[in-house]
Amino acid sequence: MSIPSTALSRRLGLKYPIVSAPMFIISNKEMLLACAEAGILGSMPSLNARTVEAFRADLEWLRRKTDRPFAINMTIQLTNPERLLADVALCEEFEVPVWITSYGNPTPFVQRAKAAGATVFHDVINMRHARKAESAGVDAIIGVSAGAGGHAGRLTPYALIPYLEQNLSVPVIAAGAISTGRQIAASLALGAELVYMGTRFIASTECGAQDAYKEMVVSSGPEEIVYTDKVSGVHANFLRASLPEDWTPDRTPEGAKRWKEIWSAGHGVAEIHGIKPIGEIVEDLVREFHDAVKRLTG
Ligand SMILES: Cc1cc2nc3c(=O)[nH]c(=O)nc-3n(C[C@H](O)[C@H](O)[C@H](O)COP(=O)(O)O)c2cc1C
Repeated sequence: MSIPSTALSRRLGLKYPIVSAPMFIISNKEMLLACAEAGILGSMPSLNARTVEAFRADLEWLRRKTDRPFAINMTIQLTNPERLLADVALCEEFEVPVWITSYGNPTPFVQRAKAAGATVFHDVINMRHARKAESAGVDAIIGVSAGAGGHAGRLTPYALIPYLEQNLSVPVIAAGAISTGRQIAASLALGAELVYMGTRFIASTECGAQDAYKEMVVSSGPEEIVYTDKVSGVHANFLRASLPEDWTPDRTPEGAKRWKEIWSAGHGVAEIHGIKPIGEIVEDLVREFHDAVKRLTG
């Protein structure tokens, strides 16, 4: 039982065409290691290490524990330029295999990544940004659909993924509300070469999210996800239950720390029924994928 490889998953040396997406504050090195051991690509924002020294220590730890690929996310405009340069230098020094750029222009990072032999993914929510990233020379474009955790787009994956796939010359990675193996099958059918899953991995034992956050992901339904720009200034999806009870969509919540106390997750909560180790989640995904294909082929 397996999930078929794609040109991109083979190029990266992955067993399965799955990425555990970077999540501000809550992704950690333990997730990256568990993903590597399960045959998928783990990732985290470099900023999740509080300091450059802590980031170096994380990379040293990962390099000691595994020789399998992993990815680091650079959040371009959200990171202080000095810190960003230091993080890029560490990605070069430790030969980080995949760099994921988001929230800004990837051009300067592509040149450095190429020189260091790394593969670059860049995330977008529309064709305009996809074309810019393609011209910048990124190796693959992550299409972030409506319903994704974090800063989500507005287009349904049924339109966005094939639209990108047909109009770009680089591979497309599908993101947004993918939590099960049958959603992986659907994403591959739509033309994606990898799937990019965040919300599903919040409810993993390795994830650094507080237990109450993980439990809220398990207990919430997709109707309890709110899409608003009032928390971070950019439209993103949040768990309604983590917002103040009297909050209304036109108001900026006072007092609460965004991302730390107001928790993000996407519509993919619909199919998350428990908190499990990443290795078991991946086994579930493979089995569910297999069942979906069996149902389609009779
Ligand atoms: C809590 C949380 C934090 C996130 N932080 C980041 C981030 O720092 N950088 C980034 O590029 N994407 C970030 N994202 C977006 C994810 O990388 C990914 O695009 C998204 O989770 C995919 O949709 P899904 O959650 O429906 O699977 C975040 C998502 C969540 C849920």
